[in-house]
Amino acid sequence: MRDNFFDTDVAQRYDEGSAEMFAPDVLGPTVDLLADLAAGRPALELAVGTGRVAIPLAERGVPVHGIELSEAMVAQLRAKPGGAAVTVTIGDMTEATVEGRFGLAYLVFNTIGNVTTQDDQVAVFANAARHLEPGGTFLVEVGVPILRRLPPGERYAVFDHTDEHLGIDEYDTATQLMWSHHYSSADGTTYRRSSVPFRYVWPAELDLMARLAGMRLRDRWADWDRSPFTGRSTKHVSVWERIDA
Ligand SMILES: C[S@@+](CC[C@H](N)C(=O)[O-])C[C@H]1O[C@@H](n2cnc3c(N)ncnc32)[C@H](O)[C@@H]1O
Repeated sequence: MRDNFFDTDVAQRYDEGSAEMFAPDVLGPTVDLLADLAAGRPALELAVGTGRVAIPLAERGVPVHGIELSEAMVAQLRAKPGGAAVTVTIGDMTEATVEGRFGLAYLVFNTIGNVTTQDDQVAVFANAARHLEPGGTFLVEVGVPILRRLPPGERYAVFDHTDEHLGIDEYDTATQLMWSHHYSSADGTTYRRSSVPFRYVWPAELDLMARLAGMRLRDRWADWDRSPFTGRSTKHVSVWERIDA
């Protein structure tokens, strides 16, 4: 049984806590690119969450189905205007099966890292590929591991430091695991901690996972605006296509 880190408490605070990811300058290019790739065909969002991306994509006329582990996140999606347009299967994206075939599958906002073993990340790629129609594409948005910020021997990197929130990433380079530790406070004196585990993964390793699933890299950009991916990029938006030779 997979751990669910997105219980009712987290789900109720998710949209407010991720407000910058709902900004029009983030969501606009996101939905533009996904709608282009879907090209009128249905899309499957793995880990659809509260519908941050799925709802505006459905509003653009793309039929969207989601797979999601957390019923609490889906309850938030359902309560939103436009939420009813997104159909959802509750399940684990490594194995959940949905009826039909899709022109596009996508997994955004670093969520491939929520699957914390290599075998399970490979299974996510295989499951995405299984749901694609011939020529369909799979898109992943994920950060490039920031190990270059760690001096030799160090395992902690502070990524946020305000009175309300202290964020520290902890890395174990032996296992390729990391934990994002969040210390949140309403009054700046007492803090509540939550820690979520991730498996960080390199672009080239994702390409191998895609190849194992019968897909090949079609595009890799630094962001949703299709800017070039370079050695200085902090994240990537990668698209693999099913090989149907
Ligand atoms: C950071 S949120 C992203 C939600 C949404 N895609 C977005 O961009 O706002 C991560 C989501 O992944 C879901 N999740 C994590 N592991 C999962 C799994 N193995 N199968 C399905 N959903 C999963 C969580 O429940 C949560 O809703």
